[in-house]
Amino acid sequence: MRPTIRSCLAKGSLFIMAYYIPIIAGSTRRDRQSIKVARFVLARLKQRQGVETELLDLLEYNFPIMEERLHRRDDPPPRLVEFGEKIGRADSVIIVTPEYNNGYPGVLKNALDYLLPEYERKPIGIATVSAGGHGGITCLAQLRLVTIGMGAFPIPEALSVSRVHDSFKDDGTPTDPSYEKRCATFLDEVLWFTEAIVDRKAKEKAGK
Ligand SMILES: Cc1cc2nc3c(=O)[nH]c(=O)nc-3n(C[C@H](O)[C@H](O)[C@H](O)COP(=O)(O)O)c2cc1C
Repeated sequence: MRPTIRSCLAKGSLFIMAYYIPIIAGSTRRDRQSIKVARFVLARLKQRQGVETELLDLLEYNFPIMEERLHRRDDPPPRLVEFGEKIGRADSVIIVTPEYNNGYPGVLKNALDYLLPEYERKPIGIATVSAGGHGGITCLAQLRLVTIGMGAFPIPEALSVSRVHDSFKDDGTPTDPSYEKRCATFLDEVLWFTEAIVDRKAKEKAGK
């Protein structure tokens, strides 16, 4: 297991800081299935030491159609500032998204487009979900391109979930045990890149 806790010296005393890694749930569809995968990833990430996480559910945020990005608005829609602050303080971000027509849901793109500086130089872990057997890999390719455009780093490892109706229970428990190993590998990689980038940023801040 790679280390996930960073130690920081501040004002002469040692304290432990957790990585903050929120999970964006990218579907607002009625009877959405990918939320089961988001719950699963959330539960497994919560088991990791030195990590603070939470679900950022786009259904709850219910953002209107984007008219302008947050940093250029003095009249942001409700809860956008809160969402922006969470992404802004994140060390990395996980996105759980279904595949819609070879892409990802418009509601996810709408939410992503609201922010820009908040994502800059942050690792992005992507989990894709489909009802069929291809695990949303076409949408994965598209979302990688989009997150690069946002100045973020989509990591090479991904979690692809096929046949989501059968492979997960409502509470996020997988019925296919192979998802435990796949999710563990995915989270290992998310944490590896998170630590690498956080350390690099800390060195830069310290003038090294
Ligand atoms: C509008 C729409 C388009 C879809 N397009 C695809 C697709 O291109 N490829 C695929 O594998 N599944 C596709 N599906 C199936 C979804 O991946 C599947 O329904 C999944 O459960 C959607 O996630 P959600 O339930 O969280 O919305 C589509 C579903 C919808 C609603």
